[in-house]
Amino acid sequence: MNIKEYRRRRKKLMDMMGHESMAIIPTAPVRVRNRDVEYPFRPDSDFYYLTGYPEQEAVAVLIPDRHHGEYVLFCRENDPVMETWNGRRAGLEGAREIYGADDAFPIEDLDEILPGMLEDRERIFYTMASDTVFDQRVLGWVNQVRKRVRTGVNAPEEFISLTHFLHEMRLYKSRYEIAAIRKAARISAAAHKRAMQICRPGLYEYQIEAELRYVFMQHGARHSAYPPIVGSGANSCILHYTENREKLKDGDMLLIDAGSEYEGYASDISRTFPVNGTFSKEQREAYEVVLGAQLAAINKVRPGNHWNEPHDAAIRALTEGLVDLGVLKGRVRNLIKEQSYATYYMHRTGHWLGMDVHDVGEYKVEGEWRTFAPGMVLTVEPGLYFPARTKGLAKKWWNIGIRIEDDVLVTDNGNEVLTIDAPKQVEEIEKLMAHEIAA
Ligand code: GLY
Ligand code: MN
Ligand code: MN
Repeated sequence: MNIKEYRRRRKKLMDMMGHESMAIIPTAPVRVRNRDVEYPFRPDSDFYYLTGYPEQEAVAVLIPDRHHGEYVLFCRENDPVMETWNGRRAGLEGAREIYGADDAFPIEDLDEILPGMLEDRERIFYTMASDTVFDQRVLGWVNQVRKRVRTGVNAPEEFISLTHFLHEMRLYKSRYEIAAIRKAARISAAAHKRAMQICRPGLYEYQIEAELRYVFMQHGARHSAYPPIVGSGANSCILHYTENREKLKDGDMLLIDAGSEYEGYASDISRTFPVNGTFSKEQREAYEVVLGAQLAAINKVRPGNHWNEPHDAAIRALTEGLVDLGVLKGRVRNLIKEQSYATYYMHRTGHWLGMDVHDVGEYKVEGEWRTFAPGMVLTVEPGLYFPARTKGLAKKWWNIGIRIEDDVLVTDNGNEVLTIDAPKQVEEIEKLMAHEIAA
């Protein structure tokens, strides 16, 4: 817990919020899986970004210029019985001492205390519509204050979403955040390497998933940033295939899209390789097209370039490649204009990456693509998908689905690929799968 880092973030947000304002930031609700079993709890990303507080049932309140402390945390109290059953709690003292809250109150007292804090505040920063039950409570508190205006208090007039200020902050990663993403990326790269080494015909997709998760866990990444995609053969052409239950067949390709989450930060890697360790002629040709497109796209990630430049570069390289392969016919310029590539490449080339795998941050500012700046992290992930029986597609391409995805940090002079340890050159992959090089 880097208490200074979190304090810095809160201070920056409060400076932007200004006087006479207040922010209310609840963590994520607990979700029930069945009867007494809950889904694994993960704090809300905005909440965790500002507090580093990992427990469930908590609400952070930020009140710039408040005399008795600007950062108030409502959270669970110590409770020996509950702690015996369900695990330790920091309690109110821990909220102050470990997590740096200026003041801490029991979460049960929220309805009682919060309306008083709202008095004489002009603006409430709160993100509506992510938890409708909590929305109603917030509105209830405001109504309570409104009823008291005749006693001389002022009720807040303005509701402002927190997303604008906060998500803008989250888009630019600090050194602390970059270190966490780098670690997640390294763990995921090691997992992909292991998957390549272990892979052989006759295994099941879920056995490869097990290897990925094993490496994540062994390195302290207790969660996947998203459900791993392990799709072989026809399944490699389903973009978000997660059943992972088919047997791996000799001659098929295997597409893996899997990334670990480390200390709340995501990584996101895709690699595609032949189940038997050797690319066929068609698999290799198609693969080289995607790899070329990916390298061309990564090359466009640098300060001053805009968000869509990597995508444009990928589209151009993929379309040229599809013509070279004989899959598309015509002039590249026209094929791009008519979006002919979209039959085989139907998704975008990347997204912001951070606490959330599809991280926050606007892609356009005032109608224009955003310009890259140091500290931003994004994925670059072009692909080509050739499902069987696609009209007009020669049979030799059927069931080849390829995506190559890396995580890229924008640096002062260009970029750094954080997932560089996961092999992606054909020769590297074949060597690793032949056990010619050590893990
Ligand atoms: N793993 C989801 C994505 O690549 O966007
Ligand atoms: Mn991705
Ligand atoms: Mn992915």
